[in-house]
Amino acid sequence: MHILVTGGAGFIGSHSVAALLADGHTVRVFDNLSSGQAANVPAEAELVIADITDHAAVEAAIRGCAATLHLAALVSVPQSLEQPIETLAVNTTGTAHLLEAARRAGCARVVLASTCAVYGDIPGVKDEQAPLRPLVPYATSKLMAEELMRCYARSYGVQAISLRYFNVYGPRQRADSPYSGVLARWCAAARAGQLCRVFGDGEQTRDFVSVHDVARANLMALTSPAAVSGEVYNVATGRATSLNDILTTLRDLVGPQFSWEHAPARTGDIPHSRGDSARLQDLGWHPQVGLSAGLAELVMIR
Ligand SMILES: NC(=O)c1ccc[n+]([C@@H]2O[C@H](COP(=O)([O-])OP(=O)(O)OC[C@H]3O[C@@H](n4cnc5c(N)ncnc54)[C@H](O)[C@@H]3O)[C@@H](O)[C@H]2O)c1
Repeated sequence: MHILVTGGAGFIGSHSVAALLADGHTVRVFDNLSSGQAANVPAEAELVIADITDHAAVEAAIRGCAATLHLAALVSVPQSLEQPIETLAVNTTGTAHLLEAARRAGCARVVLASTCAVYGDIPGVKDEQAPLRPLVPYATSKLMAEELMRCYARSYGVQAISLRYFNVYGPRQRADSPYSGVLARWCAAARAGQLCRVFGDGEQTRDFVSVHDVARANLMALTSPAAVSGEVYNVATGRATSLNDILTTLRDLVGPQFSWEHAPARTGDIPHSRGDSARLQDLGWHPQVGLSAGLAELVMIR
């Protein structure tokens, strides 16, 4: 297939592009390089540098594509609290531009990168039927994007599949911004021999899923005849790990010089997050990368 990947110069996007190329597809990346980098895009893929809110550019890029993986977004929770309008414009209106362009161009399938943040702080293991309680503009922007996906599935027959990723980690996740994911920041600090900062007491738990497993989930959602249009699927391991456990594992990997300090908890941080991915597993996806192997890979990167 010829596949469009929006946000393909970013962290999850670049791994997904590599997985699609390895599976024999041709890939066009659409990215404004605001957080992604051209160097992340494999040479075999075409790169279109443009903004997801530029409708004409999206229409031109999607022409001839049988499927789209839609990852382009403003991804940071703290940034979404500071810039809610920009977050809605890119994440929600950007998804509307993408879906409308897909409908007009006859791009049959669209896969959206959604997030476990749509569940907010509801207790317990989250399956796709769990109540939704987005607490921050980022989560709301993605829930509205999911609703647009359902709308285009029902109204226009676009095969629209939303994946709710839990906490994704792995190589190429940016560590150089205050908005960066926690594992990227800590592994970079561990490599550089610097002190890590932990927001809160470290007893928060997360369901960390490797970017390699997420790339395989994206590939499956783009290609599986069994994936149901208009539906959402969790991409999670089902395992909860506390931040304190991560710190201990990193110290085991790096040595006793690895150390950290605590800072006040951040607004919008939820205490516990763990996902049930039985529905995606029914399609044949299973997480394959264990957390200690994934952390070891990250700590080794130079
Ligand atoms: N990393 C996670 O833990 C996680 C969890 C849940 C969902 N997601 C979702 O996965 C997707 C990819 O996230 P990521 O972690 O790889 O982040 P990322 O920042 O590395 O990737 C986002 C990409 O989108 C591009 N982009 C941003 N705004 C754009 C715009 N207006 N027009 C065109 N391109 C634009 C960026 O340049 C970047 O390449 C996002 O939709 C994010 O919401 C990520």
